[in-house]
Amino acid sequence: MLSPGLFRFIMEKSGSKLQKLQKRNQREYFISCPRGLEEVLLKEIRKIAEDEHVGVLGQGGVALKGCSPKIAYATMLHSRVASRVYEQLAKVTLLDSTQRYYQAIKAIDWTTIFSLQQTFKVQTINGKLGTMNGPFRNTLYLSQLAKDAIVDRFRESNRQGIRPNVDPHFPDCTVLLYLDLLDEGIGENGDSVQLSILVDLCGEALGNRHYRKGDFDFVAPLRENLAAGILYLTEWDPKKEIFIDSMCGSGTTLIEAFLLGAQLPPSLIKLLSKQSNPHTPLWSLEKFNFFKRSGDLQNIWQEQLDRAYRQISMLRERDFEKRNLKYICERIYGFDHDERSLMVAKKNLKIIFQTLGFDSDYSDHGDVGKISIKKQDALTLIPPLSTGAAAGATSVSGASAGVIFCNPPYGKRLDAELQQLESLYHEYGENLKKNFKNYRAYVLTGNLDLRKAIALKTTSRAVLYNGDIECRLLRYDLY
Ligand SMILES: C[S@@+](CC[C@H](N)C(=O)[O-])C[C@H]1O[C@@H](n2cnc3c(N)ncnc32)[C@H](O)[C@@H]1O
Repeated sequence: MLSPGLFRFIMEKSGSKLQKLQKRNQREYFISCPRGLEEVLLKEIRKIAEDEHVGVLGQGGVALKGCSPKIAYATMLHSRVASRVYEQLAKVTLLDSTQRYYQAIKAIDWTTIFSLQQTFKVQTINGKLGTMNGPFRNTLYLSQLAKDAIVDRFRESNRQGIRPNVDPHFPDCTVLLYLDLLDEGIGENGDSVQLSILVDLCGEALGNRHYRKGDFDFVAPLRENLAAGILYLTEWDPKKEIFIDSMCGSGTTLIEAFLLGAQLPPSLIKLLSKQSNPHTPLWSLEKFNFFKRSGDLQNIWQEQLDRAYRQISMLRERDFEKRNLKYICERIYGFDHDERSLMVAKKNLKIIFQTLGFDSDYSDHGDVGKISIKKQDALTLIPPLSTGAAAGATSVSGASAGVIFCNPPYGKRLDAELQQLESLYHEYGENLKKNFKNYRAYVLTGNLDLRKAIALKTTSRAVLYNGDIECRLLRYDLY
């Protein structure tokens, strides 16, 4: 058993390592993303950071070790794939005992993170430990214990013994506790568990692009950052290639394609709202005491915000006129056979265009800013005649190479429904074969049996997760 003195020593050692890093303005971060997109995220972060060596692949995301806050903050504003950015407060090794766990959490000075008047929430994830028996198996209990440790630390910090409240829905601060087995197996003191204590700098998930209004769950929309990750995986070239979503639903991929092609930050709507209300905190980071007390951190954040504002205003003022953007829009096509879904897709795109102040092209042709959204059965769809021409016309000739994607229904319930879907998948594959020569076709499905109905040779399959549903992104090269 570790003596209290030795335990304090380990905590101090880990604390002082972090303090030293912080003095050099370097910190530790973890950027999470939908499972399966870790490598895509790593590549994206390296591009944002303009550094080929930054970041280490982790489970469910990328770790930034001894890293400038600039990279983490830029990722918060520019990553299309990231879900959240966490700052690591401590990383300690523990014996197999929940008492040490409580002490490790209490050892953090939580008053430097948030204030008594602010609310918090605790989330516990146990990586490989989840499959083991032992005291660290029950994450609900561990979250409760961590909450007690934080509350006790606050109570001891003021004479009246006042504590902050928990808000499970909209907390000012979310604390993440990540438990895992020690990489080396057993450490020098017999400890075997590694605990990372982190805080979420984002507040709401970065995938929320803020254009989704109202309830349209009937479409089963993809998460926005998953859709962006898929676009990266397709290697779609916005300057040359057509992008078609043949079952576009609420238009998630069309919007991601537009933001990517136009090189607009995915946090566009939130950024513009921040620009109008600079003093309202919109990311948790802006509420934290360590941030409010550090001129350096505030300057770094402001620089990143200003850079993003410049990017948006450049596009608003010049690029649309230069017609580059017009051509990018004209290469993006969405189809669906369901009117209700198409209405939602058009509404969503309209919100993005209006945010940018472009609404002149809307409605004349039933298109939004020339991004074509049309009613069409995917089983009889043919490629657009040429770049910019209306898709869904009747000629097969003149097909331009590009990407055709779809995320068909998965059908979980009825046999009859499954039979229908089998036929849908099969016929869709046949239509691709017949009409989409020179295209790269991608199908994202959560039903691993239905994919067999597509009688095409798969070039690759990536395992991705749409929420909790394990999916495959299947690629077919059509010749
Ligand atoms: C899972 S949803 C796609 C959701 C979409 N990716 C989004 O993020 O909103 C499947 C879509 O396929 C459409 N669909 C199903 N069969 C179709 C067909 N034969 N032709 C065109 N669209 C079809 C449905 O109307 C529905 O909108």
